[in-house]
Amino acid sequence: MDNLVLVGFSCSGKTTVGRNLARRLHLTFADSDRLIEEAAGRSIPEIFAERGEPAFREIERDVIQRVCANTLQVVSTGGGAFVDPRNRQQLRAGNLVVHLQVRPETVVYRLRTSRSGRPRPLLDAPDPLQRVRELMAARHDAYACAHVTIGVDDRSRHDVVADLTRRWLAWRRAAGQRQRTA
Ligand code: S3P
Repeated sequence: MDNLVLVGFSCSGKTTVGRNLARRLHLTFADSDRLIEEAAGRSIPEIFAERGEPAFREIERDVIQRVCANTLQVVSTGGGAFVDPRNRQQLRAGNLVVHLQVRPETVVYRLRTSRSGRPRPLLDAPDPLQRVRELMAARHDAYACAHVTIGVDDRSRHDVVADLTRRWLAWRRAAGQRQRTA
């Protein structure tokens, strides 16, 4: 309850934006991918390689459930987390879910130039642009279940953080009003 949840495709900036936003709003920052790695004692590529995607998704579901039990956090989720119906329902319940929408071309550019160089096993394909387009199309309806969608292409991270700060404060005010009139 009362969390700001970031969903969206890989390279949409969920982790960087989330960390900055948490600092600015004095909220705790939780990153589902990092929590999965801690729980498994392995990196995400190792989990995919050694145990496969179904095992990864199972750990992801446990982590999402655990995270949703806490309050006043900015939660950055892995790109596939919101696709699972149970995760989607839990993440939407009493939280503000924001979809950071990114163009496929931007994803591929950021994958190529990423300083962190974090491998994304699902995007390791001969034609990454085609792969990103397909996966994004398949996830379109799931991401559309976010409460708010904001485009992040051609916008600085600073600008996105400022936008999300305003939206979070407005959402908290509205939630307070709802509670007072209930
Ligand atoms: C995935 C995205 C990754 C990570 C895993 C699976 C996906 O997170 O959870 O590799 O299914 O799109 P990012 O969105 O942080 O890249």
